[in-house]
Amino acid sequence: MTTTFPAFDTAHRHDPYPAFALVREATPAHPLQLGDVPVTVFTRYAECAAILASPDWGHGYQAGISPFRDTGALIPGSFVRMDPPDHSRFRSLVNKAFTPRVVAALAPMVERVVDDLLDTALARDEFDVLADLAVPLALTMIGGRVLGVPPEERPALRDWELAIAWGTDPDELLPPDVITARGTAARAAFGYFSRLVAQRRAEPADDLLSALIAVEEAGDRLTEPELVGICLLLLVAGMETSINLVGNGVLALLRHPDQLVLLRERPDLMPAALDEMLRYDLPTQFTIRVALRDTVVAGQRFTRGDGVVVVMAAANRDAAVYPDPDRFDITRYAVPDPARRHLGFSLGIHYCLGAPLARLEAGIAIGALLRRAPNLELAEENLEHLPSLIHRGLRRLPVRARTRTPRANA
Ligand code: HEM
Repeated sequence: MTTTFPAFDTAHRHDPYPAFALVREATPAHPLQLGDVPVTVFTRYAECAAILASPDWGHGYQAGISPFRDTGALIPGSFVRMDPPDHSRFRSLVNKAFTPRVVAALAPMVERVVDDLLDTALARDEFDVLADLAVPLALTMIGGRVLGVPPEERPALRDWELAIAWGTDPDELLPPDVITARGTAARAAFGYFSRLVAQRRAEPADDLLSALIAVEEAGDRLTEPELVGICLLLLVAGMETSINLVGNGVLALLRHPDQLVLLRERPDLMPAALDEMLRYDLPTQFTIRVALRDTVVAGQRFTRGDGVVVVMAAANRDAAVYPDPDRFDITRYAVPDPARRHLGFSLGIHYCLGAPLARLEAGIAIGALLRRAPNLELAEENLEHLPSLIHRGLRRLPVRARTRTPRANA
């Protein structure tokens, strides 16, 4: 019996989907040896969705039963790796400062930032959709608006989040230098956010961090280290993912010109197109779970403390759920169908807290890019992906715009 997962091989980094398909078609539950930890990998939609939504599965760190070594799980306030009741407490506190109304009110700011970035990018013959649009947009929104980091201090955030994001893969699959870089970045970010939390407590500003501190003071107590941990979580969960949604999404459009033309003609399809981008080439490819009690999945018995890997990116291409799953079709979600919702933002209690913000940013950025660059084309065919397995994204996405349209309010 094989205990490796071929899709994790670097040979498949540019396109892991055929390797996912081989495993998905062969077996519902694939054994994998992660160092000294035996785990089971799930790639079919039915099992992935069931595990994510089930209270039988969680993380088990507080209960001391997780087989995974995950240093991020030890950070106070980092509720993405917590189980109820701790998870519920943090999630509801952060939600209070992150309501749909607060996010919707950010639209004019995102539009302004995107238009300014495109003014500069489109003045050149060639530009990089990531370095010139997606990265500075995420730095302004997550770094600036959410965390309240002043503009001159934001470049460091990009270095830290990249090092920590690349180090999110299971330790057993990481080279030692990536683990060391992750630790160095996490310590630097921790020190920085400790000072920032103290500053914002003394002098509140118009950012989500100040709102979080106020939530704390209105009742339930968040300690200083918990607030710092939440900053780190928002930085890592919010930056790399939203950058890669823009990059992977624009690449999918450029490689499917009929879909690009359709979206340009029918901007009302943007919400459905974003869902298809999240199904087709997902920024967060997989997550982990631990059995919180004895349970059965796909006829296989799991004992409390057993670890699994849930590959949402593979489930999103399962032909049992999606007709013609390898086709990129921006009308697929034009009529919402709860039975076919993609797993891009996960499911259940850990469903992405930042989904409305990610959709707002990517929808405005991609929409403005298509409007203002009517003949957008790839400037390079050989594109390189980041070395991370969990985070799927490009290093660069160089494009050319042969004609340009001014910003709407120019
Ligand atoms: C396209 C962009 C994004 C994608 C694909 C994405 C994906 C995900 C996924 C898959 C999870 C669940 C992980 C699991 O079940 O183990 C998650 C959780 C989370 N995301 Fe996102 N995310 C995105 C953007 C954002 C943004 C912009 C923010 C913050 C501003 C954010 C904050 C969070 C937080 C705090 C959690 C933890 C929720 C919990 O455990 O209750 N995400 N995200």
